[in-house]
Amino acid sequence: MRSGMNPYRPIGAEVVDVIAETPTIKTLRLRPDEKINFRPGQFIQLTVPGVGEAPFTPSSPSTWKDCMEVTVMRVGKVTEKVHQLKPGDIVGLRGPYGRGYPLEAFVGKDLIVVGGGCGFAPIRTLMYVLLDQRSRFGKLIFRGGCKSPADLLYGKEMDAWAARRDLDLLITVDQGDAGWRGPVGLVTGILDGIDIDCENGVGILCGPPVMMKFSTRKLLQLGLREENLYLSMEKNMSCGIGKCGHCRLGTYYCCKDGPVFNYTQIKNFPDIWG
Ligand SMILES: Cc1cc2nc3c(=O)[nH]c(=O)nc-3n(C[C@H](O)[C@H](O)[C@H](O)COP(=O)(O)OP(=O)(O)OC[C@H]3O[C@@H](n4cnc5c(N)ncnc54)[C@H](O)[C@@H]3O)c2cc1C
Ligand code: FES
Repeated sequence: MRSGMNPYRPIGAEVVDVIAETPTIKTLRLRPDEKINFRPGQFIQLTVPGVGEAPFTPSSPSTWKDCMEVTVMRVGKVTEKVHQLKPGDIVGLRGPYGRGYPLEAFVGKDLIVVGGGCGFAPIRTLMYVLLDQRSRFGKLIFRGGCKSPADLLYGKEMDAWAARRDLDLLITVDQGDAGWRGPVGLVTGILDGIDIDCENGVGILCGPPVMMKFSTRKLLQLGLREENLYLSMEKNMSCGIGKCGHCRLGTYYCCKDGPVFNYTQIKNFPDIWG
């Protein structure tokens, strides 16, 4: 944010494309009036004029120059309107806010990335950076879960990434269909047997609270250290800049101190899983 500016004033952004990913999730490509430099894991506040504002994590590569994408699940008032947007419509954006993933702490380490549902969005941005800078990291393992093959996000990227030899990628679905050849079951089921340096390995988790809860438990059982597990936490937000207190998470404000936390920071707070 530029100094001297009203921190709540959004900049304009044109919707340039709308991609229907699944029956309940759309990706919007936006062209902001000014470039928004974000890091993987940071979030923006998106305003639909006359309706309201909601936080979303950009899902596109952070290196894109003119555009950014957000991937939005329809759950309520604002997201319903976001799903009705068409190319040419104008929304407001402010941010980026929060701390993203501490990429320098990942250098030289084996990484296991676990995503579920709409949690694929920030993970997609992170994966672009990890793959762009692939030689800086040890093994790279991606484990994802979604309800059904129709609910899988970013199908083309997933196919391209699955073909890479320097990435071990596996997706599971709760319920398969006639064309599904992959595993069926919860994402915790495909964490068994991962080949990773547990002493130094890093776990990165983003998804529905119940998925993060059981995946965290599983990675701890496998021997990863709690301070090496990074979770993207979602709390109800308003200001996004550490002023209003809506997003309190124990002694932290999720918007300012997070939304990415390591498990040691938050494990003793009540109700961290929602
Ligand atoms: C840092 C951060 C990043 C996020 N990134 C994304 C993203 O990339 N894509 C995406 O689809 N969603 C994301 N969300 C969640 C998104 O902000 C909410 O779904 C949205 O605010 C709901 O607004 P609404 O007006 O449509 O729903 P409302 O009408 O306000 O509520 C509908 C339902 O959604 C629940 N809800 C509302 N806000 C949140 C919230 N912040 N977290 C969890 N549940 C909520 C309510 O309890 C209610 O059950 C993110 C949230 C945070 C805090
Ligand atoms: S959203 Fe206002 S303090 Fe975090």
